[in-house]
Amino acid sequence: MPVILAIESSCDDTSVAITSDSGILAHVGRSQLIHEHFGGVVPELASREHLAQLLPLTKQALKMAGISAHRIDAFAVTAGPGLPGALMVGTSFAKSLSLVFQKPLIAVHHMHAHIMAHFIDQPKPEFPLLCLTVSGGHTQLVYLKDPFDLAVIGQTRDDAAGEAFDKGARMLGLPYPGGPQIDAWAQGGDPHFLNLPSAKVPGLDFSFSGLKTSLRLALEKGTAHHPDFIEVHRADLCASLQYAIVDMLIQKLRSAAQLYPCADIALAGGVAANSGLQEAARLLCSDLGSRLHLPKLAYCTDNAAMIAQTALYYHQKGQFAGQDLVAKPRWPLSADGLRFFT
Ligand code: KG4
Ligand code: ZN
Repeated sequence: MPVILAIESSCDDTSVAITSDSGILAHVGRSQLIHEHFGGVVPELASREHLAQLLPLTKQALKMAGISAHRIDAFAVTAGPGLPGALMVGTSFAKSLSLVFQKPLIAVHHMHAHIMAHFIDQPKPEFPLLCLTVSGGHTQLVYLKDPFDLAVIGQTRDDAAGEAFDKGARMLGLPYPGGPQIDAWAQGGDPHFLNLPSAKVPGLDFSFSGLKTSLRLALEKGTAHHPDFIEVHRADLCASLQYAIVDMLIQKLRSAAQLYPCADIALAGGVAANSGLQEAARLLCSDLGSRLHLPKLAYCTDNAAMIAQTALYYHQKGQFAGQDLVAKPRWPLSADGLRFFT
């Protein structure tokens, strides 16, 4: 099996990993804290941070793996979807490495990689696999017959689940990224304090933008009576928001599992770290008699280990990119789309 060095820079995490047949040899990364002040990711700042971090992180990863760059058999990079400038920094860097060391380049789909993160460690899921990928930018239900034979069977029509957490957190005076904050505060709160109605969307699609409006209206009403409503009830408000988001996700996951029965079900993406979602998914899977796969926390949020793992599969298929690789900020996930760079 080849030794692959992978780069992830699609949003606000810069990460480098090296993998081989003996598993992950190195995995290093930095989350960009600079965005905290702005309540969301500032694309231009993200690109600059990636540019500053990629070379030192690459050197650090090679040192950690105890190998020289000449030992790398292929360079992999997230080619999309993601922030245009951030992707451009990563792809340009990977293209330079590939050119200098005369080794192949592999262009990885970020949402595909979130799913393939489950194949880094044992026990690996079996196919067919149903995966709910929930991140800051995407909410998707994906049905996979094998790593490349996949279909998105449901997705959000507006905000992503992570966005609903982040925007809700902002309204509740909590810093970015809001998901982990809401999760922590929700522990001590009453999930039925507020009834936040979610939009009824037919089929397996999701919608979260209505929740934002329901929360805003409830906060306006609450603070009109008690100016310190949010401070006093922060735990209850967080628990109610988390309950509403998880409820929508689990309802759709249940319907998907009924339409596409699978012995293996997985959660992926940053929101998969949510304790309420994990607990509800455990209950659902024990109901369905399916095995639930949850990635390690480090492989839930954006990381290069998942890019390296996915690149191993692309390498096996002989699916490489050339020096004409252009980042694809919008790159829908589909079996055909994954053949784009062949
Ligand atoms: O996958 P990810 O790292 O980046 C994207 O590709 O978007 O996901 C980031 C998202 C953010 O919206 C963050 O608030 C959310 O994952 N998140 C969580 C938790 N940890 C991270 N949301 C809810 N509960 C958590 N514990
Ligand atoms: Zn992601």
